[in-house]
Amino acid sequence: MDAIIETKELTHLYSAGTPFAHTALQGVDFSAQPGEYLAIIGRTGSGKSTLIQHLNGLLKPTSGQVLFEGTDIFESKERTRQVRCQVGLVFQYPEYQLFEETVYQDIAFGPKNMGLDPDEVDRRVRQSARFVGLEAGVLEKSPFDLSGGQKRRVAIAGVIAMEPRVLVLDEPTAGLDPSGSARILDNIRTYHEEKNACVILVSHSMEEVAREAQRLVVIHRGTIPFSGPPSEVFSHGEELETMGLGVPAMTRVFARLRALGVDVPASVYTVPQAREAVLAALHRGPRKTGLWLCGERKKEPADMEFSAPFAENGMEQASSDEKGAE
Ligand SMILES: Nc1ncnc2c1ncn2[C@@H]1O[C@H](COP(=O)(O)OP(=O)(O)OP(=O)(O)O)[C@@H](O)[C@H]1O
Ligand SMILES: [Mg+2]
Repeated sequence: MDAIIETKELTHLYSAGTPFAHTALQGVDFSAQPGEYLAIIGRTGSGKSTLIQHLNGLLKPTSGQVLFEGTDIFESKERTRQVRCQVGLVFQYPEYQLFEETVYQDIAFGPKNMGLDPDEVDRRVRQSARFVGLEAGVLEKSPFDLSGGQKRRVAIAGVIAMEPRVLVLDEPTAGLDPSGSARILDNIRTYHEEKNACVILVSHSMEEVAREAQRLVVIHRGTIPFSGPPSEVFSHGEELETMGLGVPAMTRVFARLRALGVDVPASVYTVPQAREAVLAALHRGPRKTGLWLCGERKKEPADMEFSAPFAENGMEQASSDEKGAE
């Protein structure tokens, strides 16, 4: 399939031509397919924000190209303007960029700038507010009277209201508690599924990207050393550690089990997968799997009642507190 957005040999120098010149990206070939949900991971300062700001033309390459549906986004000013409506970018801590008097006006800002007629702007504002779980009563409030989690949802609604075909989000759950994060991730997943949009999520959380994304792109010192489905990327455990990234907690637990001689798969990275793998191992019996290395042998598995101690969507959600989110 042809990429919806891609970079070719993208290099970006900050403060080029000065003594402070700094190469943030070096010959990056990045691509995303229509309808794909991918995550960009990398340690702080690796170049994640620099890369995604090229995708909607906010930053210009020092050299190389950014293509949307195969055409250079900097071909003309008009082309760059069009692409900005198709590639929606949600900045890190976007709530600091709310500035209008009401939530309604803030969400309407993008669609109005696209030149849509007032009825269509109204439809989009109401639809995207519903999308992110904001009640109609909130629309006439000042964004500054809202809680942190609500403000962030307003900011995301403002980008979704442009109905971008590529939705790029820079650490959208940063600073939120587990239930606030889960709600935002639910909203993003719904947008991805209902609009068949391409989602590009920048995140520091291995657990988060393992659960949400179909493909991971690793950035390290301004280059992409590897990318692939989570199971493939997390099999590079040692390299990821040296890049300051690590792997999800479940992957570490299962690597330890394997090191102890327990026959469990290496490609476990979420809690539901861990539960499946443990259940399968119990069904095979302790002798075959070596499970007794992990504890006392009391009963044969056929007699054992296994009650999974994990929450369906991950351990971290066990502490969810709706009020605490906001
Ligand atoms: N405006 C700027 N001027 C000069 N250097 C910059 C500028 N913005 C970023 N950099 C540098 O470019 C490199 C990449 O920065 P970038 O913000 O893309 O990293 P990041 O992966 O998004 O980091 P984080 O996880 O902290 O958000 C870093 O070394 C950073 O210090
Ligand atoms: Mg960043």
